[in-house]
Formats: sequence, structure tokens, C-alpha cells
Amino acid sequence: MKTYIVGNWKLNFTVGEASIYLHKLLKALPNYRDIEVVVAPSTIALQPLSLQVDRHKMKLAAQNAFYRDYGAFTGETSFLQLRGVADYAIVGHSERRYIFGEDDKTTQKKVAAAIRNKITPILCVGETESERAFGETVDVISDQLIGGLTDVADDDLDKVVIAYEPVWAISSTKAAKLAAPDEVAEAVALIRKILVDTYGEKSAKEVPILFGGSVNPSNAGAYLTVPGVNGLLIGGSSLILSEFTDIIEVAKRVKS
Ligand code: 13P
Repeated sequence: MKTYIVGNWKLNFTVGEASIYLHKLLKALPNYRDIEVVVAPSTIALQPLSLQVDRHKMKLAAQNAFYRDYGAFTGETSFLQLRGVADYAIVGHSERRYIFGEDDKTTQKKVAAAIRNKITPILCVGETESERAFGETVDVISDQLIGGLTDVADDDLDKVVIAYEPVWAISSTKAAKLAAPDEVAEAVALIRKILVDTYGEKSAKEVPILFGGSVNPSNAGAYLTVPGVNGLLIGGSSLILSEFTDIIEVAKRVKS
């Protein structure tokens, strides 16, 4: 399986800044066959960047889209409109869930809409700090995972990527709030088990599971060597080109 290095730029960069970053990244990036490099710019930058990107080297992801293809949905962009523009889409990110009130039902429809439009959903799951404190981690991950995948047919499971992002470890600067590798291992094993129980061993084995939460060049190696982790979903550190390319280098070293 490839190693996935995905940069989620969140609400950062103008279109111009995004284009300059992409230009520099493409220049710095060799053609790694076993590493899937992806960046997720704001929706407004996706179209111009899709004309600029070299898809042999890397891919683009949407950060969000709406599940209906068209209609009276003011302000939305559909997966249909992103077809051919983005290869991936982040779905169910905790910022969508907790800031914009997206529930598992919405996430489920978005996962299905992405697949229908030939876009690979990166389904994010993860517990909040209080859910962890109340011992609800297993239930939360199960609900978000099973909920998000409800409409995914067995044959389509190979079109899905899962990201485990414990909400308490996102954008954390304090060491105490970093996820320990064994905590990541435990959650990733649970995700894999749920996939095996639902879809069978063979299909479940093929699903990439990424980790996200304050990943940077210094801790990337530790997370990438956690058993069952197939890549990283990176926020803050992906905004700094040198850090993002350093993480790609770490992935390359770990892989070889
Ligand atoms: P940080 O890497 O800034 O913690 O963000 C993680 C994240 O939410 C990526 O989707």
C-alpha cells in the first residue's frame, strides 16, 4: 500500500499564495511512486490549482463539498462540480462536525456523493477530549465510522480512505496534548477491526488509515511507524512548505 501524506490547508492562503506554494512544492517533489502526496486547498483555489498540478507527482483534495449534485442550496459546491478537479475530499472533519454541526447522517451522504462522483473520500473520525475522559472513545469512533460508511457498498470500500484524528490532539502545541503512538495504535486497530467485521478481512486490509493531530517533521516518523498507520493528515505543518517536504522525506525514509 502507498503511504499517504495529505496536507489540509484549512482556511489559509489566497488563491495566489496557494498557487505559489504549489509551484514550489511541484519543483521540490520527485516523482515518488509509493507515496501519495495530496494537498487540500480552499474550494476557490481548487479549479486553478487543478490546471497547474502535475497529477503524476501529487493530487488535490477538497476540504468539503455538498452531497446533492445541484439545486437550491445557496452557497454550496457539489461533489459533481468537483469531479475531475479534485481526486480526494476530506469528509467529516471534526471542524465540520463541531463548528458547522455536521452529523453522521450528513457525513454518510457526503461519503456516498464523493464516491458517486469518482472522488475518494477521506473520512475523518475521532473523539473529543471529554468523550475520551468519559470512556466513550470506542463508541464515538464506531458510530462515526459505521455511520459514515453506511452507504458504501462492499465493492466500493477500496475507494475510501479513513483518517483517525483525535480532536484533542489537533493544533496542539503542548506536548501533553500530543497523541502517544500507542494511543494511535489502539484507535487504528479498532478502526481496522470494525472494517474487518463489516466488510471482511480482504477488503478491510486494503483501506488506508491515516493519522492526524499536530503532526510535524519531528514526530512524523513515530506516527508513520505505528502498526496499521498508512499515512498522515497534516494541518498546521503543511502550511510551511519546508516542513511539509520534510515530512514527505520522513515518509520516504520510513518506507525504504
Ligand atoms: P494540525 O496538524 O494543525 O493539528 O491539524 C490536523 C488536522 O485537523 C488535519 O486535518
